[in-house]
Parts: sequence; structure tokens; C-alpha cells
Amino acid sequence: MTDPAPARLVVLVSGSGSNLQALLDATADRAYGAQVVAVGADRDGIAGLDRAAAAGVPTFVDSVKSYETRDEWDAALTAHVAEHKPDLVVSAGFLKLVGPAFLAAFGDRYLNTHNALLPSFPGIHGPRDALAYGVKVAGATLFFVDAGVDTGPIIAQVAVPVLDDDTVQTLTERIKVAERVQLVDYVGRLVREGWTIENRKVRIP
Ligand code: GRF
Repeated sequence: MTDPAPARLVVLVSGSGSNLQALLDATADRAYGAQVVAVGADRDGIAGLDRAAAAGVPTFVDSVKSYETRDEWDAALTAHVAEHKPDLVVSAGFLKLVGPAFLAAFGDRYLNTHNALLPSFPGIHGPRDALAYGVKVAGATLFFVDAGVDTGPIIAQVAVPVLDDDTVQTLTERIKVAERVQLVDYVGRLVREGWTIENRKVRIP
């Protein structure tokens, strides 16, 4: 019997792309069950796009300011992602909230990794806000994106300690190490095993 075709991942990035790199590395093993078929970004000149190019993965850029309205941007992003027929779309440090067209097309299979333990510290400054609050445990949350800001059904969470001498940078880096492992682990499990969502509870059989 031949293996099933690998699941198709489109990954969206805005920055350094270390989470993308972890996925690219994992997909080198066919047994992982997925391949990155395209990488999209909302800006040029970022390391994430260089990582995709180095891996021979096609890229596209949809910058909000290239479109007259946010809805036009959303429609263009949706169309570009759809061209690659993804089984899963992964926001890996993508700093834009997608709109209704994108969610209508991919809302059942669009994941985001966030560098805080949701529902605490949503938004783009998770580690900074967690440190300022004085929490003793921080971490990362992988979730299905819905129309809210970091509010969708949670797939997995991983915790790391907050140390007395942490800075935003040291805490951010500690979270990212655990976050990458979690992302690779759960994307693989989702594509290989499938999932259900009932009353916000995500279950992987
Ligand atoms: C991740 O920690 C993610 O949670 C946050 O931005 C970071 C992206 O890092 N939203 P990278 O671009 O994958 O290196």
C-alpha cells in the first residue's frame, strides 16, 4: 500500500520565521505526514520569506497597504492561500487579523500559535504583559482562529517557568523553544489523525 499524499500546509509569517523553520524541518521526514506548499507574508524583507525560499517553497506577499480597503486585502489573501489548496493554514507569527472572507474559506482549519497561556495575555505583547503582571508560569497556546483576538478553540498549551531575573527577551525566547516543539507535534497529529471540536473542546482521536 502506498502512503497517503502528505497534507498541504500554507504557513503565514510576519517575522523571523523560526516556527516556520521548525515545520520545514519536520516535513523533511515523509512520515510526518505534511508538506509546506506555500508561505505567505504581509510584508517583504523578512527572514521568514528567506527561509521559505531557501527550502524551495513558493512565497507570496499581501501587504495591507497595497489594497484600498481591508476587505480587498482579505479577499486577496484568501485567494492566494486558496491557490495552494491547503489542508491546514498555520499562522506562525503572522501579525494580521484576517477578515470574514478568509474565515469563511479557512475558518475550520486555520491555526495560530500565540506566545501566552490564553485566555490570559492576548494580543501582540504576550510575554511582555505576562512579565509585567508578575505571573510565575508563562507559555504558548495553539488554537483554531475565530473572529475574535486570540479567542478560538484551544488545541494545546505548553507552560514554561518565569524566572526572577527574566527580561521580556529571555522569557520570549524560553517560550519560543517550547512553542516550536508544540507546534510541530500538534500540526503533525492533526494532519495524521484528524480532530473534532465540540463546545470549544478540540479532541484529536
Ligand atoms: C511566536 O512566538 C508567536 O507566538 C508570536 O510571534 C512569534 C513568531 O516567531 N506571535 P517566529 O517568526 O516564528 O520566529
